[in-house]
Amino acid sequence: MAAPAANMKINGERLWDSLMEMSKIGPGVAGGNNRQTLTDEDGEGRALFQSWCEAAGCSMGLDQMGNMFARREGTDPDALPVYVGSHLDTQPTGGKYDGVLGVLGGLEILRTLNDLGIKTKHPIVVTNFTNEEGTRYAPAMLSSGVFAGIHTQDWAYDREDAEGKKFGDELKRIGWRGDEEVGARKMHAFFELHIEQGPILEAEGKDIGVVTHGQGLSWTQVTIEGKDSHTGSTPMPMRKNAGLGMARVLEKVDEIAWSHAPHAVGAAGHIDVYPNSRNVIPGKVVFTVDFRSPELSVIEDMEARLRVEGQTIADDMGLSIAFEKVGGFDPVTFDEGCVTAVRNAAERLGHTHLDIISGAGHDACWINRVAPTAMVMCPCVDGLSHNEAEEISPQWAAAGADVLFHAVVETAEIVK
Ligand code: GLV
Ligand code: MN
Ligand code: MN
Repeated sequence: MAAPAANMKINGERLWDSLMEMSKIGPGVAGGNNRQTLTDEDGEGRALFQSWCEAAGCSMGLDQMGNMFARREGTDPDALPVYVGSHLDTQPTGGKYDGVLGVLGGLEILRTLNDLGIKTKHPIVVTNFTNEEGTRYAPAMLSSGVFAGIHTQDWAYDREDAEGKKFGDELKRIGWRGDEEVGARKMHAFFELHIEQGPILEAEGKDIGVVTHGQGLSWTQVTIEGKDSHTGSTPMPMRKNAGLGMARVLEKVDEIAWSHAPHAVGAAGHIDVYPNSRNVIPGKVVFTVDFRSPELSVIEDMEARLRVEGQTIADDMGLSIAFEKVGGFDPVTFDEGCVTAVRNAAERLGHTHLDIISGAGHDACWINRVAPTAMVMCPCVDGLSHNEAEEISPQWAAAGADVLFHAVVETAEIVK
C-alpha cells in the first residue's frame, strides 16, 4: 500500500474553526458543552455536521439507531469502506473535544482529500455514533454496541432516562431515526481519533498516543434501602440510613480499586439519594459503581468483591442492598495492522509518539469486534476530561488529525 507523502497535511485552522463552531451548540455553564444525546441540541449538532458533509460532496446514511455515515466514494465499487469517526454527544458538563475531535477530524480528512484532488480505492465514511457517553441512557457506547451486535435494538430503544423517556421515542422525536438496518454495513477498517482524557502524553511530552489496548469496564448499579425519617428527632440507634450505607460501600470501592493499583480504578459518578431533602435521613440510594482495568480478571475480582463486601455492610446496618450490572465491556486489543498504520503515520510525519492503553471507553472498543480497528490519541491539558475545562491546543488537534489522515488514506489506498 502506498503511504501518503510526508508533506500531505490536513488544514488545522479549518479543523479548529469547525470544533469551535460545533461547540456553540449546547453550550455548558462553564465554557464547555452540554449536548447530551437525543436532546434538541444533539439534533442541532447533527444538522450542522450533515450540512458540512454535504458541502464536502458526501452522501449521508442514517441507521435505525441514529448513527450517521457520511460517505466519500472510492474508485472501486467492490471495495469496502474505511470508516472513521467518534461521537458528537457530550457529558452534561462536558468538554468541546471529547468525541467531537474524532468526528470533525474525520470530516477534515474528506475536506483535505477534496482540496488535494485525491481519489482513494476504498470509500471513506465518517461516522457519528449515537449516545457514546451513556449519561442520559446507560450504557455508554450504546449505538456502536448495537452496531457490533452486543445489544439488541429493541433493548436499546427501551432504555429510559431519569424522566422515564425511552431512547427509541426520543430518537424519533428529534428526527434522527433512520431506516437503515443497524450493523448491516461491513467495514474494511475503522479508525478513531480521540483526546487522551488522561495525563500520560502531556507528561511524557509526546504528540501522539498509538492506542494498542483499551481497558475494560464494569458498571454495577447498587440500590440500598433503609427508612426515610426525620434527621432531628430519630434517635441514632433507630436510624436506617441508606446514605451512610452508601458511604461505607464507596469507601470499600476505593479500597478495592487501590488493592489492584496501579492498573485499576473505581468510583461512583452517578448517585441518586431519596428523597434528597436536607432534613430527611435517606431511605434509599441508587448509585453506579464504575470499575475499570486492562485485565479482565481484575475487573471480575472487583465486581465480585463489591457484591460480597457490599452485602456484609448492608447486613451489619440492617439495610437491604441489590446489585444490577448495567454496562461493561472486556479489555480490548486493537488490530495489529491498523495500530501499525497509526504508528507508521506518526513516524512519517515526524511526531513523537507513545504506545498507550485507553483509560476511557470508546465506540472503537465495540467496532473492534466487527472490523480491524485502531485509535489515535492526542494529549489534553492536565489530562482533564469529562469537565467543561477540558482543553487541547490547535497544534495537538492538527497533529492527531494528520496522523489519522495518513493512517486512513494509506488504508483506503490512494489511486494514482
Ligand atoms: C466514556 O466516555 C467512558 O465512560 O469511558
Ligand atoms: Mn469520547
Ligand atoms: Mn466521554
